Amino acid sequence: MAGPRAAEPRRSRQFLAACSATAGALLLPLMVAAAPTAAAAPRCDSTEDCLAQMTLEEKAGQMTQVNHSNVMDDKEAIAEYGIGSLLSGGGAGPGGEPGGTAAEWADMYDGYQRAALESRLGIPLIYGVDAVHGHSNVEGATVFPHNIGMGATRNPWLVRRAQNVTRKEVLGTGIDWNFAPAVSVPRDDRWGRTYEGFGEVPHLAGMMGYASIKGLQGHGRGVGSDGVAATAKHYVADGGTAWGTGEGDYMIDQGDAQMSERELRRIHLRPYRAAVRAGAASVMVSFSSWNGLKMHQHEYLVDEVLKGELGFDGVVVSDWAGVRQVEGDSYAEKVRKSVNAGLDMIMVPDDYEQNIEAIVGEVRAGRISEKRIDDAVRRILDLKFDQELFDKPFADRGYTGDVGSAEHRAVAREAVAQSQVLLKNDGVLPLSRNSGKDIVVGGKTADNLGYQLGGWSISWQGSGGDITEGTTLWEAVQQETEGTDTDVRFVGTDTGQDFSGDIGIWVGGETPYAEGFGDDADLALSEADSKQLGDICAKTDVCIAMLVSGRPLIVDEELETADAFVASWLPGSEGAGMTDVLFGHEHFRGRLPVTWPSSVDQEPINRGDGQKPLFRLGYGLRR
Ligand code: GLC
Repeated sequence: MAGPRAAEPRRSRQFLAACSATAGALLLPLMVAAAPTAAAAPRCDSTEDCLAQMTLEEKAGQMTQVNHSNVMDDKEAIAEYGIGSLLSGGGAGPGGEPGGTAAEWADMYDGYQRAALESRLGIPLIYGVDAVHGHSNVEGATVFPHNIGMGATRNPWLVRRAQNVTRKEVLGTGIDWNFAPAVSVPRDDRWGRTYEGFGEVPHLAGMMGYASIKGLQGHGRGVGSDGVAATAKHYVADGGTAWGTGEGDYMIDQGDAQMSERELRRIHLRPYRAAVRAGAASVMVSFSSWNGLKMHQHEYLVDEVLKGELGFDGVVVSDWAGVRQVEGDSYAEKVRKSVNAGLDMIMVPDDYEQNIEAIVGEVRAGRISEKRIDDAVRRILDLKFDQELFDKPFADRGYTGDVGSAEHRAVAREAVAQSQVLLKNDGVLPLSRNSGKDIVVGGKTADNLGYQLGGWSISWQGSGGDITEGTTLWEAVQQETEGTDTDVRFVGTDTGQDFSGDIGIWVGGETPYAEGFGDDADLALSEADSKQLGDICAKTDVCIAMLVSGRPLIVDEELETADAFVASWLPGSEGAGMTDVLFGHEHFRGRLPVTWPSSVDQEPINRGDGQKPLFRLGYGLRR
């Protein structure tokens, strides 16, 4: 809002903007006197009714999404600017810090919603979060295996059940929009977001993406008040970028997908056809580029293909400050290119004034049409009305008490068991819980819940330690053998000490990371991991290796050393799912969702590319 009004305090600027929609400044004193003083009910009762009353500034506000910590100490700005959406970026819990209980999140959500209802038309917020493997930002929530493990289950019904649990736990915090599922098709395992994809082939991403959307949004069309809006992301070919083309310091993340349109459509676009069929409420645009042009300004792929050819009628949202990566001499030029390309909601996520002023200025200059703005706002308001946010703007506390419930955790435990892929078994598994043998457990991940969860867990990057409620592998082994004459001993990472045993279990692999921070040129186990595995196998009669990682690692030697080898992926909070298959309560049924390389020089390696992998896509022993 440029010009003399820029000097005004923000609140009067809003009233002036509202009054500019009517004839007379003479009305101003009357309107100020009559301004609503309580959190009144919304003052428009349909998308078209709201649109007809909204000023251009208010429409630009609806298209603006802000990370909550930017308005935490100035909630009035939500109403003054008519901000349409807030989000909690990874780790942005109540108070702007990682963590917080479900009740604290619900209180936070309601506080912001009350502030939004103070706006001139009282249009409620829609609030987004990355509940990408359960509502993993929230302390005590059920944390599922990351998508690569869910892909290993090949069980879409289980994925749908898992997402239904996530739906209930997200609703328990009031939140109505989940930036999930990623329907990425990771083609180069060196990419730090490989674990966010379901696998390297489009049908797996499409099948599990469809199931995820149905689990989150419910079985009918639309979302409803008992659904959570799902987001198919990141559009498109985020998993197809070339090594060395990454954005900034990243080696491959946010890079350039250098391929023909035929390959893009055959591999990376297909899961979006499934997502649109599933009724995805939103699609998030990728940071990456296609043949040198940023997706955030790609009018052909966003407007013509996604919205036109695929018929997507939901909300297209930018990624975190993704507009700023668009070519342009000013923010106004960048946001104009994004909005004209078909983006409806801009995840700014901080300078909301700049975003609103830029959109208003570009419309007034005739560089963005009112028609495009109305289309964007219509999509946003249609979603809010579909979710009944105008009638039920606050958290449904009926869900809050079930966050992290035993019933929910049982679904996650089942998912963990079905995700385990048995790569080698020289007659060792299944173990007997009552064998009377001595079991020694060690490795850096054996009793580290944070490592078991991986990235996007309580904080954006994740971290080690007891960061939330859950069961580590070591705790699960103790539970499994309690009351039997099987002795269990924990050596942790101190495997140089003197010990012996009948059976050794090593758990190690990757420590948590997210996004480009996980881009990795080597895919190698650490020397410490290799040594600890070697020590445990040398000091026990038979040994089992459990690799906790977001992707295949180069483990040829370790495969020789261990008598049994399990790819555990990033299993999440329910470690007992791992012992369920180790001790034979569940059969191993997991199958590789990605091709497993024998050398990092083979990357990218995928089915059908003519290379000889260590294990093919779909490999997995039953016992
Ligand atoms: C991140 C991710 C995206 C996420 C968004 C909000 O940068 O790319 O997957 O949904 O920001 O946290």
